[in-house]
Amino acid sequence: MTDYHDFLEEVLVPEDLLQKRIAELGAKISEDFQHSDQLVLICILRGGVMFLTDLMRRISVPHAVEFMAVSSYGAGSRATTGQVRITLDLNMNIHDKDVILVEDIIDSGHTLSSVLDFLAARKPRTLNVCTLLDKTERREVHVPVRYVGFQIPNKFVFGYGLDLDELYRNLPFVGVVNEEKYRQSLKKGNDQHA
Ligand code: IMP
Ligand code: MG
Repeated sequence: MTDYHDFLEEVLVPEDLLQKRIAELGAKISEDFQHSDQLVLICILRGGVMFLTDLMRRISVPHAVEFMAVSSYGAGSRATTGQVRITLDLNMNIHDKDVILVEDIIDSGHTLSSVLDFLAARKPRTLNVCTLLDKTERREVHVPVRYVGFQIPNKFVFGYGLDLDELYRNLPFVGVVNEEKYRQSLKKGNDQHA
Protein backbone atom coordinates (compact mmCIF):
# COMPACT_ATOMS: atom_id res chain seq x y z
CA MET A 1 0.00 0.00 0.00
CA THR A 2 1.30 3.41 -0.93
CA ASP A 3 2.20 5.78 1.84
CA TYR A 4 0.47 9.14 1.46
CA HIS A 5 3.79 10.93 2.05
CA ASP A 6 4.68 9.93 -1.51
CA PHE A 7 2.08 12.29 -2.98
CA LEU A 8 1.23 14.77 -0.22
CA GLU A 9 2.00 18.20 -1.68
CA GLU A 10 1.24 20.07 1.53
CA VAL A 11 -0.92 19.92 4.63
CA LEU A 12 -3.58 22.52 3.88
CA VAL A 13 -5.50 22.42 7.17
CA PRO A 14 -3.70 20.77 10.10
CA GLU A 15 -5.57 18.81 12.75
CA ASP A 16 -5.46 21.47 15.49
CA LEU A 17 -6.85 24.15 13.17
CA LEU A 18 -9.63 21.83 11.98
CA GLN A 19 -10.66 21.04 15.53
CA LYS A 20 -10.52 24.67 16.60
CA ARG A 21 -12.73 25.77 13.71
CA ILE A 22 -15.18 22.90 14.22
CA ALA A 23 -15.57 23.91 17.87
CA GLU A 24 -16.42 27.45 16.69
CA LEU A 25 -18.96 26.15 14.17
CA GLY A 26 -20.54 23.93 16.83
CA ALA A 27 -20.81 26.87 19.22
CA LYS A 28 -22.39 29.05 16.53
CA ILE A 29 -24.93 26.39 15.57
CA SER A 30 -25.74 25.81 19.26
CA GLU A 31 -26.40 29.51 19.67
CA ASP A 32 -28.45 29.86 16.49
CA PHE A 33 -30.63 26.83 17.31
CA GLN A 34 -30.79 27.13 21.10
CA HIS A 35 -34.58 27.35 20.99
CA SER A 36 -35.09 24.55 18.50
CA ASP A 37 -36.32 21.19 19.70
CA GLN A 38 -36.39 19.83 16.17
CA LEU A 39 -32.79 20.04 15.05
CA VAL A 40 -31.56 17.38 12.60
CA LEU A 41 -28.09 17.14 11.09
CA ILE A 42 -28.07 15.37 7.75
CA CYS A 43 -24.76 14.00 6.61
CA ILE A 44 -24.00 13.07 3.04
CA LEU A 45 -22.07 9.84 2.96
CA ARG A 46 -19.27 9.20 2.92
CA GLY A 47 -17.07 12.30 2.83
CA GLY A 48 -18.97 14.18 5.52
CA VAL A 49 -18.75 11.50 8.23
CA MET A 50 -15.58 12.66 10.04
CA PHE A 51 -16.82 16.23 10.05
CA LEU A 52 -20.26 15.21 11.32
CA THR A 53 -18.96 13.16 14.23
CA ASP A 54 -16.59 15.91 15.37
CA LEU A 55 -19.15 18.67 14.80
CA MET A 56 -21.98 16.98 16.70
CA ARG A 57 -19.78 16.64 19.79
CA ARG A 58 -19.47 20.43 19.73
CA ILE A 59 -23.22 21.09 19.47
CA SER A 60 -24.86 21.47 22.86
CA VAL A 61 -28.48 21.53 21.59
CA PRO A 62 -30.20 18.12 21.47
CA HIS A 63 -30.31 16.94 17.87
CA ALA A 64 -30.90 13.94 15.67
CA VAL A 65 -28.58 12.74 12.92
CA GLU A 66 -29.53 11.29 9.59
CA PHE A 67 -27.61 10.00 6.61
CA MET A 68 -28.11 10.05 2.90
CA ALA A 69 -25.98 9.10 -0.05
CA VAL A 70 -25.88 10.44 -3.58
CA SER A 71 -23.97 9.50 -6.64
CA SER A 72 -22.91 12.04 -9.18
CA TYR A 73 -22.81 11.04 -12.78
CA GLY A 74 -19.29 11.57 -13.96
CA ALA A 75 -17.96 10.65 -10.51
CA GLY A 76 -14.38 9.50 -10.76
CA SER A 77 -13.63 12.19 -13.29
CA ARG A 78 -13.35 14.62 -10.35
CA ALA A 79 -15.86 17.01 -11.81
CA THR A 80 -19.54 16.52 -11.36
CA THR A 81 -21.86 17.03 -14.27
CA GLY A 82 -24.86 18.34 -12.41
CA GLN A 83 -26.75 15.05 -12.53
CA VAL A 84 -27.19 13.61 -9.06
CA ARG A 85 -28.97 10.42 -8.04
CA ILE A 86 -30.10 9.65 -4.49
CA THR A 87 -28.71 6.21 -3.62
CA LEU A 88 -29.67 6.22 0.07
CA ASP A 89 -32.76 8.11 1.15
CA LEU A 90 -33.56 9.41 4.64
CA ASN A 91 -35.46 7.24 7.11
CA MET A 92 -36.72 10.22 9.05
CA ASN A 93 -39.57 12.51 8.12
CA ILE A 94 -38.02 16.00 8.08
CA HIS A 95 -41.28 17.90 7.71
CA ASP A 96 -41.17 20.91 10.10
CA LYS A 97 -37.66 20.07 11.30
CA ASP A 98 -34.69 22.43 11.48
CA VAL A 99 -32.37 20.73 9.04
CA ILE A 100 -28.66 21.37 8.72
CA LEU A 101 -27.02 19.62 5.81
CA VAL A 102 -23.46 18.70 6.73
CA GLU A 103 -21.08 18.52 3.78
CA ASP A 104 -17.38 17.85 3.41
CA ILE A 105 -16.69 20.14 0.46
CA ILE A 106 -18.48 22.25 -2.09
CA ASP A 107 -16.87 22.39 -5.49
CA SER A 108 -19.09 23.22 -8.50
CA GLY A 109 -22.12 23.26 -6.22
CA HIS A 110 -24.12 20.83 -8.41
CA THR A 111 -24.31 18.07 -5.80
CA LEU A 112 -25.46 20.41 -3.07
CA SER A 113 -27.93 22.19 -5.30
CA SER A 114 -29.67 18.91 -6.22
CA VAL A 115 -29.69 17.67 -2.62
CA LEU A 116 -31.16 20.97 -1.41
CA ASP A 117 -33.99 20.75 -3.97
CA PHE A 118 -34.66 17.19 -2.86
CA LEU A 119 -34.77 18.14 0.84
CA ALA A 120 -36.77 21.35 0.33
CA ALA A 121 -39.52 19.31 -1.33
CA ARG A 122 -40.06 17.60 2.04
CA LYS A 123 -40.89 20.92 3.67
CA PRO A 124 -38.50 21.22 6.61
CA ARG A 125 -39.09 24.25 8.84
CA THR A 126 -35.61 25.56 8.05
CA LEU A 127 -32.90 24.25 5.75
CA ASN A 128 -29.29 25.35 6.12
CA VAL A 129 -25.91 24.15 4.90
CA CYS A 130 -22.75 23.63 6.92
CA THR A 131 -19.68 22.73 4.88
CA LEU A 132 -16.20 22.13 6.16
CA LEU A 133 -14.47 23.23 2.96
CA ASP A 134 -15.53 25.59 0.21
CA LYS A 135 -13.78 25.93 -3.16
CA THR A 136 -15.55 29.15 -4.14
CA GLU A 137 -13.48 29.62 -7.32
CA ARG A 138 -14.99 26.47 -8.81
CA ARG A 139 -18.64 27.38 -8.23
CA GLU A 140 -20.92 26.89 -11.25
CA VAL A 141 -24.29 27.15 -9.54
CA HIS A 142 -25.18 29.39 -6.64
CA VAL A 143 -25.87 27.60 -3.38
CA PRO A 144 -26.69 29.34 -0.10
CA VAL A 145 -24.20 28.25 2.57
CA ARG A 146 -24.69 29.49 6.13
CA TYR A 147 -21.72 27.87 7.86
CA VAL A 148 -18.29 27.44 6.26
CA GLY A 149 -15.22 25.96 7.93
CA PHE A 150 -12.54 27.06 5.47
CA GLN A 151 -12.44 28.68 2.04
CA ILE A 152 -9.81 26.78 0.10
CA PRO A 153 -8.04 27.31 -3.23
CA ASN A 154 -8.79 25.27 -6.33
CA LYS A 155 -6.67 22.25 -5.44
CA PHE A 156 -7.63 18.60 -5.07
CA VAL A 157 -7.62 17.72 -1.39
CA PHE A 158 -7.84 14.53 0.63
CA GLY A 159 -7.97 13.35 4.23
CA TYR A 160 -10.40 14.10 7.05
CA GLY A 161 -13.23 12.23 5.31
CA LEU A 162 -12.23 13.09 1.75
CA ASP A 163 -10.93 10.22 -0.30
CA LEU A 164 -8.48 9.46 -3.06
CA ASP A 165 -10.07 6.53 -4.84
CA GLU A 166 -11.82 5.58 -1.57
CA LEU A 167 -8.66 5.61 0.56
CA TYR A 168 -7.06 8.01 3.06
CA ARG A 169 -10.35 9.24 4.56
CA ASN A 170 -8.90 8.44 8.00
CA LEU A 171 -6.17 11.10 7.96
CA PRO A 172 -6.79 13.70 10.69
CA PHE A 173 -5.78 16.67 8.46
CA VAL A 174 -6.72 18.00 5.02
CA GLY A 175 -3.89 17.66 2.51
CA VAL A 176 -3.31 18.69 -1.08
CA VAL A 177 -2.52 15.89 -3.48
CA ASN A 178 0.33 16.14 -5.96
CA GLU A 179 -1.56 14.56 -8.86
CA GLU A 180 1.57 13.69 -10.84
CA LYS A 181 3.16 11.89 -7.90
CA TYR A 182 -0.16 10.24 -7.06
CA ARG A 183 -0.42 8.79 -10.59
CA GLN A 184 3.16 7.55 -10.31
CA SER A 185 2.48 5.90 -6.96
CA LEU A 186 -0.60 4.15 -8.39
CA LYS A 187 1.43 2.91 -11.32
CA LYS A 188 4.20 1.68 -9.03
CA GLY A 189 1.60 -0.18 -6.94
CA ASN A 190 0.10 -1.80 -10.02
CA ASP A 191 3.50 -2.82 -11.36
CA GLN A 192 4.34 -4.47 -8.04
CA HIS A 193 1.14 -6.48 -8.15
CA ALA A 194 1.50 -7.48 -11.81
P1 IMP B 1 -19.70 19.42 -6.64
O1 IMP B 1 -21.02 18.80 -7.04
O2 IMP B 1 -18.89 19.77 -7.86
O3 IMP B 1 -19.86 20.59 -5.71
O4 IMP B 1 -18.85 18.28 -5.95
C1 IMP B 1 -18.95 18.00 -4.62
C2 IMP B 1 -18.41 16.62 -4.32
O5 IMP B 1 -17.25 16.31 -5.11
C3 IMP B 1 -17.95 16.56 -2.90
O6 IMP B 1 -19.01 16.20 -2.03
C4 IMP B 1 -16.83 15.55 -2.95
O7 IMP B 1 -17.36 14.25 -2.82
C5 IMP B 1 -16.24 15.71 -4.32
N1 IMP B 1 -15.04 16.59 -4.31
C6 IMP B 1 -14.93 17.82 -4.84
N2 IMP B 1 -13.70 18.32 -4.68
C7 IMP B 1 -13.02 17.38 -4.00
C8 IMP B 1 -11.64 17.32 -3.51
O8 IMP B 1 -10.81 18.23 -3.65
N3 IMP B 1 -11.31 16.18 -2.87
C9 IMP B 1 -12.17 15.13 -2.67
N4 IMP B 1 -13.44 15.16 -3.11
C10 IMP B 1 -13.86 16.27 -3.76
MG1 MG C 1 -19.22 14.52 -0.79
